[in-house]
Amino acid sequence: MQSQKNIVLFASGSGSNVENIASFFREDSRVRIKGVLCNNPGAGVVDRCKRLKLPLFCFNRPAFQELDGLLHLLRGLEPDLIILAGFLWKIPEDMVRAFPQKIINIHPALLPGFGGKGMYGMHVHEAVLKHGEKESGITVHFVNEAYDQGAIILQEKVVITEGETPESLAGKIHKLEYKHYPEVISNLLFG
Ligand code: GRF
Repeated sequence: MQSQKNIVLFASGSGSNVENIASFFREDSRVRIKGVLCNNPGAGVVDRCKRLKLPLFCFNRPAFQELDGLLHLLRGLEPDLIILAGFLWKIPEDMVRAFPQKIINIHPALLPGFGGKGMYGMHVHEAVLKHGEKESGITVHFVNEAYDQGAIILQEKVVITEGETPESLAGKIHKLEYKHYPEVISNLLFG
C-alpha cells in the first residue's frame, strides 16, 4: 500500500482551483489536505474552505515576512507538496530553500511569456490579447527564487479565437487548469 501524502495549498483569491483540487482528491484516501494558507481574510477561498471543511490558516504581511512562524507551521503540516493556487505574494527565498522541489505554481499563460511581477489574474489575459497572440495556455512550474522562472513541469495550450475577450480567455484557461493541475499534483505525489 502506498503511504499517505500531505498537501498544503496557498491561495489569495476566489479559490476555485483549491476547490477543484479538493474535489479531485476527496475520494482518494492517500491524499490529505493538511492546510489552505491564505493572506486575505476577505478572499472567496475563505468561504470555500469553511463550506468544504478544509483547515484554513490566514496570515498577514508581517507574519509572512518574519517567516519563522510560518515555516514552523508549514513544517508541522509535513507537506509532501506545497501548491500555489492563485497565491499573489512572492515566496521568500528561505521558504524555497526549506522545501526544495516541493513548491509548485500554476500560471495562466505560456511562460516565459507574460510572467513576472504584476502579471496575475486578468492582467495576464489582457496583456496576451493586447500583444495579438494566437494562443495562450497554462504553465505548471516549480517555484524558485525568481517570479515565474522555476523549471516547467507542464504546459497546455488554448487557441485564441476571433473576438476573444479577457473574460472568455480566462474561462478557457480555468478549464485547462481544472483538468490538468490535479493530474500534475497526482503525478508528482505518486509518479
Ligand atoms: C488561476 O488562473 C491561476 O492560474 C492563477 O490565479 C488564478 C486563481 O484562480 N495563478 P482561482 O482563485 O483558483 O479561481
